[in-house]
Amino acid sequence: MAAARLVVLVSGSGTNLQALLDAIHEDPEGFGAEIVAVGADREGIAGLERATRAGIPTFVRKVGDYAARQEWDQALTEATAAYEPDLVVSAGFMKIVGKGFLDLFGGRFVNTHPALLPSFAGAHGVRDALAYGVKVTGCTVHFVDDGVDTGPIIAQGVVHVRDEDDEGALHERIKEVERQLLVDVVGRLARNGYRIEGRKVIIP
Ligand code: GAR
Repeated sequence: MAAARLVVLVSGSGTNLQALLDAIHEDPEGFGAEIVAVGADREGIAGLERATRAGIPTFVRKVGDYAARQEWDQALTEATAAYEPDLVVSAGFMKIVGKGFLDLFGGRFVNTHPALLPSFAGAHGVRDALAYGVKVTGCTVHFVDDGVDTGPIIAQGVVHVRDEDDEGALHERIKEVERQLLVDVVGRLARNGYRIEGRKVIIP
C-alpha cells in the first residue's frame, strides 16, 4: 500500500514534527506515512528549519498578510491541498482554522494538545492546568472539528504534576509523552485506517 501523505502544520519549535520525521526516517517502508510538506503561519521558526533540513518543502501563510481571516483560511487551504494530503497534522500550530479548511480536511485533520481534553482547551493548556492545581495532566491527540479542541479524541497520554513544576518544566515532560503518542497515533492511522463513530475513533 502507498504511504499516506502527511502535511504537518507548525508554529514553533517543531519537536513533534521532528519526532515524526525521525520515526519515518528510521523505517520509511514500515511507518506507513511520508511528510510531503510542512506549513506554518509565521517565518523564522525552528519547525520550518527542521523541515528544510530534512529536504521537505515548506509554505508560510501569515494571517496578517490577508485583509480578512477567511482569505487567510482559503490561502492556507489551497497551499495545503496542493500537496494532496491524506492526513493533515497540526503539531503546535497555534491558529484556529476556518470553515473552508474544515470543509476540505474535516475528518482527516489531527491536532495534538498539551492537556487532557476536554479540560484546559485553548492556547494555554499547560498553564491553565497548573493554575487549577490538577495532579495529573497530559496530552490529547484528536481530530479537529469546528470547536476549539472539541473534536473526537484518538488517544491520550498522562503526566503527573510535581509540586515544584512551573509551566516550562511541566510542558517539557508533557512533550516527551506527546511526541511518542503522536508518532504512534499517526502511524496507526496511516497503516490501519480508521473510522469515526460519533465521538469515538476506532483504529482497527
Ligand atoms: C505542543 O506541546 C503542542 O501540544 C502545543 O504546542 C506544542 C508544540 O511543540 N500545542 C498547543 O498548545 C495547541 N493549542 P513543538 O513545536 O515542539 O512540537
